[in-house]
Amino acid sequence: MRAAFVTAPDADDPAGAVSIGELPAPTADDGWVEVEVHAGALNMHDVWMLRGAVPLADGPTVIGSDCAGTSGGADVVVYPVLALADPGRNVAHGTLVSDLGHGVLSEVATVPAAGIAPKPAHLSWAEAAALPTAWLTAYRMLFTQADLRAGETVLVQGAGGGVATAAIALASAAGATVVVSSRSPEKAERALGIGADLAIAPGARVPELVDVVIDSVGAATIGHSLASARVGGRVVTCGSSTGFTGAIDLGRMFARELTLRGSTTGTLEEFHRMVAFVAEHRITPVVDSVVDLADTELQVRRMLEGAAFGKLCVSLR
Ligand SMILES: NC(=O)c1ccc[n+]([C@@H]2O[C@H](COP(=O)([O-])OP(=O)(O)OC[C@H]3O[C@@H](n4cnc5c(N)ncnc54)[C@H](OP(=O)(O)O)[C@@H]3O)[C@@H](O)[C@H]2O)c1
Repeated sequence: MRAAFVTAPDADDPAGAVSIGELPAPTADDGWVEVEVHAGALNMHDVWMLRGAVPLADGPTVIGSDCAGTSGGADVVVYPVLALADPGRNVAHGTLVSDLGHGVLSEVATVPAAGIAPKPAHLSWAEAAALPTAWLTAYRMLFTQADLRAGETVLVQGAGGGVATAAIALASAAGATVVVSSRSPEKAERALGIGADLAIAPGARVPELVDVVIDSVGAATIGHSLASARVGGRVVTCGSSTGFTGAIDLGRMFARELTLRGSTTGTLEEFHRMVAFVAEHRITPVVDSVVDLADTELQVRRMLEGAAFGKLCVSLR
């Protein structure tokens, strides 16, 4: 089978560490199923794998944790978290299926049987493949961690990202007012077309302090996120595209009684709820671009350039 994999990680040139070639197709163990993968999507986690920051199995390690395809004759999307394979461990949801050698950017992938959900019928293969990690992460941030309610206002930092575009569309469908920030006026404009109500420049004052902030950008925005939240506001962080450490104004934290929560992907139950929500509201995930598997390296480069609006996808059939 054709696959995208890494054998020699490269901290300086992760895109150059992508290999495309033939590997033996995996076979499903008890409790696992085979998926004929039609499309996949990339995440920053894949860049960490290509950089060598994630421990790799011996030999070629298939990258990718997001895919959509067919399994047992059904069209499916796949839960991207590996916890199902080892449910007894008290771990967060940070271990993705690509870790420990179960990557999905291959014509055939094996995944835990409980981790497949029906593909929403209105979506293309690439749109469905965009869902697993970014959309699950945004769903948990909004509805579990922040307990977002209809009528509330949410600020989504970095409008162009995979997590951010998901958060914009999900929050809008849930009846929230959505404010976005972006470095790029073009991306800010596009965000208005997928459910955002107002776009501001990075670091600009919000017209009114918001109930909830979704921050996947990290060091560059976390100070502004806390400054933009109302008394009792909830700020949820999942990412660190711009760095892991940032200054926090503790005076503002306690004076406004803010909540700052970390969040990582989501549970299997949240995954099923997210996919059902997307189907019910007929939401279409934003796909920046789709390339053939042979050009996976180009998608990694585009991610590193920060040029994308939405998910970077790969077609396998
Ligand atoms: N904890 C989890 O479970 C989890 C799950 C998924 C992702 N993540 C993390 O969340 C982060 C975003 O993931 P993603 O998939 O959405 O990535 P992505 O699609 O590559 O998006 C990158 C994001 O960062 C913003 N950005 C990049 N450089 C910036 C800068 N210098 N200043 C301000 N904003 C900047 C972009 O906003 P604009 O281009 O609009 O300015 C965009 O929102 C990553 O760090 C990823 O590792 C975590």
